[in-house]
Amino acid sequence: MSEITQLTIAGEAHLHFAEEICTMMEQAAQQRGTGIAKRSPLYVSAKMLEGKAVIAISNGRPVGFCYIETWGHGMYVANSGLIVHPDFRNTGLARRIKEEIFKLSRKTFPEAKIFGITTSLAVMKINSDLGYKPVTFSELTTDEDFWKGCQSCRNYDILTRTDRSHCLCTGMLYDPDKKPKVEAQKPSKEERWERFKRFMKFEGFKEGADRLRQKIKNKSNNLKSNKSSWLKIPLF
Ligand SMILES: CC(C)(COP(=O)(O)OP(=O)(O)OC[C@H]1O[C@@H](n2cnc3c(N)ncnc32)[C@H](O)[C@@H]1OP(=O)(O)O)[C@@H](O)C(=O)NCCC(=O)NCCS
Repeated sequence: MSEITQLTIAGEAHLHFAEEICTMMEQAAQQRGTGIAKRSPLYVSAKMLEGKAVIAISNGRPVGFCYIETWGHGMYVANSGLIVHPDFRNTGLARRIKEEIFKLSRKTFPEAKIFGITTSLAVMKINSDLGYKPVTFSELTTDEDFWKGCQSCRNYDILTRTDRSHCLCTGMLYDPDKKPKVEAQKPSKEERWERFKRFMKFEGFKEGADRLRQKIKNKSNNLKSNKSSWLKIPLF
């Protein structure tokens, strides 16, 4: 297998690859049999011209591709049409492409929610690592044009039968407003010890500790004297 010589944002220089990319997508869809929204070379070319696609090239041939679509007036963005040439699969290429297109999406549409629907475990894994969460279809865009894209999928009848609530694909969403929770770092043993020492030296604490010590002393003195007076009480 050859090395990837270029992984870049696609542009005018790559227009002549549009047809080959679409063929690659169609062949993959036929092999998987799970269905995929059909793309035309014209559509793929437009994505390249808009600077909304990432392409991987090896030995002068396209071996990977993905593009950005916007829905719901730019409130939602989808990273669609991911394809890796069979000879380059399982080498981490899809992950690299997805990372690039994700970066491009965040930069171009920083406010948008990024989503995808997929049956691919590899894609779910990558999405999850990028911070996407699995969601129901009701949390995705309601833009009719997005869902029309599913019409060329062989499972479209399932989507319509379920009133667009679910299908074979899993919906995943990256919401920029829901930043991943950063795990609170537990201080090390040494750090905890240093903090304790600092606390013990803290003047306010020292004063309080002295007062507390005095109180305990007074209490125990009182107890002692009470005990002795109690002992003096005649029982009969
Ligand atoms: C899906 C596809 C893009 C994956 O491309 P790839 O370059 O082989 O994927 P990567 O090598 O980057 O693998 C990404 C991760 O998925 C895992 N993975 C790859 N194929 C997998 C599979 N069939 N099942 C489960 N996990 C898989 C890899 O182990 C890797 O995980 P890791 O990084 O934790 O080890 C490629 O198989 C393809 O083009 N398929 C046809 C088109 C398609 O299905 N597109 C997706 C439409 S949503």
